[in-house]
Amino acid sequence: MSAKTETYVPALGLPALTRFYDLVVRLTLPEFEQKKRLADQALRELPAGARVLDLGSGTGTLTLLLKQRAPGADVAGLDGDPEVIAVARAKAQRAGFELDLRQGLSWEPPFEEGSFDRVVSSLFFHHLRTEDKRRTLAKAHDLLRPGGELHVLDWGEARSALTRLAFLPVQVLDGFGPTRDNVRGRLLPLFEEAGFASVEETGRRNTLFGTLSLYRAVRPGSASPCTGRFE
Ligand SMILES: C[S@@+](CC[C@H](N)C(=O)[O-])C[C@H]1O[C@@H](n2cnc3c(N)ncnc32)[C@H](O)[C@@H]1O
Repeated sequence: MSAKTETYVPALGLPALTRFYDLVVRLTLPEFEQKKRLADQALRELPAGARVLDLGSGTGTLTLLLKQRAPGADVAGLDGDPEVIAVARAKAQRAGFELDLRQGLSWEPPFEEGSFDRVVSSLFFHHLRTEDKRRTLAKAHDLLRPGGELHVLDWGEARSALTRLAFLPVQVLDGFGPTRDNVRGRLLPLFEEAGFASVEETGRRNTLFGTLSLYRAVRPGSASPCTGRFE
């Protein structure tokens, strides 16, 4: 049987639960603290007029935060689920910010190769089976300009019996297949396999449902010293 899928796992595992996503995440995880850390890390030394993509953007909380913190950047979001995109659009409109929100699957993104300075993602990769992580990471790599950066916040390696046990409810909701790489600490090798360099875990935070890890990786290449733009 192929380990590739042609659809997406919704935000809380089941479509009927999607409308509760924001509330559940806000109440059960240090959501804003972690998304702010991710945004700070991703936006460091961002070139002027940069393009930033939020992969698996969901209800747009991170997408909006990125735009609020880097108003001069062109911020896009991609998600497979039209329901969460509608929520994200309404949020952006209420906040008075313009986001380029698209519906599509992460392994066939509707964007030009080499057109982003940052690809950022939170709580998304654990929705993908290994083969889907591989083809998504290959696309993320190609969407970045040389020297562009990938920044990921997601469930990380369980380093104790307690954090391993705490992660079980996430696995029941989102599936054991897609979540296994995360809890076994296999995201970093998958980033490397996709061609990323300087791959590192930059932080960890234990939560009620296991460990959240923050990662950074770079598409090899360099920024132009004259323009500050990645080429
Ligand atoms: C847990 S939610 C995270 C949403 C948001 N990034 C956040 O941090 O709140 C995961 C999101 O990934 C989307 N998703 C899952 N698989 C996908 C795929 N292959 N392509 C695009 N979106 C996908 C789901 O629709 C869902 O909105």
